[in-house]
Amino acid sequence: MIDLTHWERLASEQVKNRRRDAGRLGGKVAVVTGAAQGFGRGIAEELLAAGARVVLADLNGPLAEKVAAELGERAAAVRTDVTDEESVAGMVRFAVERFGGIDLFVSNAGVLKAGSLDELEKKDFEFVTSVNYTAFFTGVKYVSRIMKAQASADPAWTGDVVEVNSKSGLAGSRMNFAYAGSKFGGLGLVQSFALELVPHRIKVNAVCPGNFLEGPLWTDPERGLFVQYLKAGKVPGATTVDDVRRYYEAQVPMGRGCLPSDVAKAILYAVEQSYETGQAIPVTGGQIMLN
Ligand SMILES: NC(=O)c1ccc[n+]([C@@H]2O[C@H](COP(=O)([O-])OP(=O)(O)OC[C@H]3O[C@@H](n4cnc5c(N)ncnc54)[C@H](O)[C@@H]3O)[C@@H](O)[C@H]2O)c1
Repeated sequence: MIDLTHWERLASEQVKNRRRDAGRLGGKVAVVTGAAQGFGRGIAEELLAAGARVVLADLNGPLAEKVAAELGERAAAVRTDVTDEESVAGMVRFAVERFGGIDLFVSNAGVLKAGSLDELEKKDFEFVTSVNYTAFFTGVKYVSRIMKAQASADPAWTGDVVEVNSKSGLAGSRMNFAYAGSKFGGLGLVQSFALELVPHRIKVNAVCPGNFLEGPLWTDPERGLFVQYLKAGKVPGATTVDDVRRYYEAQVPMGRGCLPSDVAKAILYAVEQSYETGQAIPVTGGQIMLN
């Protein structure tokens, strides 16, 4: 266990007197992992537009720095490897030193390796699990220390953890079991953390987006999912990446992929709704419906 006593004290000293900006999240400090690109970047932009101050934590330090510089003085970047406990503690220290505390933790960094049981190697399975599942635990372990200190120092304070999960956390995904398993597991953590942290006025919820078909996870020409799924034969009869794209679009009742602004709306809902915790909010254009 890494000691954060000094930063717990710093955050509790400042929690009542922090800057109060205008906006739905005015005055709140958010940390978003995996915020250099994709959903994370879009979420960071929307949280900033709602008045938050945002730490962009990403393995790709130079890109996170570039994005934070573009987003203005209420954004700051810190290179973070969410699979490395010391690096996660460093992210927490940075947020407290830079903005005075943490009110919202968005655990968004995620990876995907598709493949059948015959193809996928144990190291690939463990890689996906370490980023999508284990790192959610590590993030909440250290962020919650700061949040608990703030809750003790200020009876009016409330905090939020939001895991960016997936529709694959709600229904199995053929030849994509490492990812789906990590996301199903994430919901077990969400529910359990919610129960543990409720006495500290910290809500823990998940948002479960559908496919961000315009985003780099899908469109990257070498490692993107369109290419991966084509090679894995996940889409019967597909011979080009366009065939794969059309197949996925056709599965969404609302006829389009999920956008970062759709996900951000669900995160804002989870933060503003004071009477829900341990929930998984689907954001799938009707593709996945809760039982
Ligand atoms: N793209 C989709 O269709 C989709 C759908 C549902 C859910 N999601 C989820 O949304 C989240 C974001 O996905 P995305 O599509 O934006 O991905 P992306 O690949 O575009 O971006 C992921 C970001 O995470 C960072 N990252 C990767 N490993 C990291 C690590 N160890 N430490 C810190 N940062 C790390 C990357 O550098 C990158 O900036 C993931 O949790 C993913 O599972 C994505």
